[in-house]
Amino acid sequence: MTTSVSASDVPGPAPSAAEWLDRGYADDHNATAASDTLLINEQSRLLETQGRRITKFGFGQSPFPVFPPAVETLAEHAADKAYLPVQGMAALREQVAAFHRHLEGTDWRAERVLIAPGSKLLLFALMKALPRAEVLIPAPAWVSYAPQARLAGQPAVRLETSFDSRWLVTPAQLDRHCREHGPSLRLLILNAPGNPTGLSYEPEMQRELAAVAKRHGVLVLSDEIYGPLHHRGEHRPFALDYPEGTLTTSGLSKWCGAGGWRLGVLNVPEALGDALLTRLLGLASETWSSVASPVQAAAITAYSVTPALEAYLEAQRQWLSAIGRWCAQRLEAAGIRTHAPDGGFYLFPDFSAYREILRARGIATSAELTARLLEEAGIALLPGSAFGCESTQLTARLAYVDFDGGALLERDYPDDLESAMAVPELATVRHGIEALVAWLNGA
Ligand SMILES: Cc1ncc(COP(=O)(O)O)c(C=O)c1O
Repeated sequence: MTTSVSASDVPGPAPSAAEWLDRGYADDHNATAASDTLLINEQSRLLETQGRRITKFGFGQSPFPVFPPAVETLAEHAADKAYLPVQGMAALREQVAAFHRHLEGTDWRAERVLIAPGSKLLLFALMKALPRAEVLIPAPAWVSYAPQARLAGQPAVRLETSFDSRWLVTPAQLDRHCREHGPSLRLLILNAPGNPTGLSYEPEMQRELAAVAKRHGVLVLSDEIYGPLHHRGEHRPFALDYPEGTLTTSGLSKWCGAGGWRLGVLNVPEALGDALLTRLLGLASETWSSVASPVQAAAITAYSVTPALEAYLEAQRQWLSAIGRWCAQRLEAAGIRTHAPDGGFYLFPDFSAYREILRARGIATSAELTARLLEEAGIALLPGSAFGCESTQLTARLAYVDFDGGALLERDYPDDLESAMAVPELATVRHGIEALVAWLNGA
């Protein structure tokens, strides 16, 4: 039954919809600002429209074209219009599982794979689908994990890492954390090769970390979106060392150059039972329904391991390895501590040797450092603070992707580093690193 309200029952004018919104947000500490990654891109574009030359080391998008046979399949299926199963097409899930089994030796199973519009959404869905869990996020780590934990209503804890631990959470650190804070459900987020660091665990250390996670019953979410771009083709999935407790995500965005296609994958190990997978499927069906059907058809091609696909991956690895090593060497030579990367396309230089020089120029935080670098030298980097590091830690993420990956893949890889770096397509990367070093030295 509805009750009618006459105008005389209401004491004064009701707030407008906009006023209700303002009131609602006044006590909302959950606001999530646009990500720093996107902001730096906007700023770079603005400076470019003013005629400035900007080296775009800020935004981490694959510079390589989408695997061409997948583009052809996408075109052939442009008229596909049906909604597909929420979990993803069975044929695609088979192919995804076979891809990971073949390339990485894991035991992915089609029935336990979930396809979504990007792995980012899968990470969020997982945090949302879990019962209350403490989410352990390394610092530094990819920008979206912490906001996602907050949006999912899960408590998040940062595990600080350091240059000396290669920006990795150590087994002893995880053990200490679990002992000091007592038993509870925990989700440890790992990401290797890493964004923002480009680094992976050595196999021995990974095994030890897996043993600690297992001992404390910690769930691991292993974000392996850069796995096929391990520069030596030696990506070691965390699930190999902790199969019963590791959820793994990946997708087309990085190794297939198809970030805008929005296709991510998650493998839920059988040992975790059905309740979590059922909840994830429920969440998927009430929100995204399914990934675009032409994209799923194209993904079947992308996930079919052929000599052409292996050559495409190998060429990307060779160039990324050369560029990453060259940039790291050049920065190291200038006194900027930088680990050479294991995979992906990022470096995480540490400018602390320049702390006094920078302080004299009024720079004390990583955000001030990157703002001034962009303004004065035209170099876009992302500050370490965007990845959860202390604001005064003078670190930044350098995404060495400002080059035409399509043109580079047309070339045969020259084999030695100096010749590889001398190709005209890499002029902007070379210029950017030299300009960064020159700016630091006051030029
Ligand atoms: C570490 C990491 N995880 C996840 C993602 C999200 O990827 P997707 O495009 O599959 O949502 C990114 C993309 O930048 C990333 O760098």
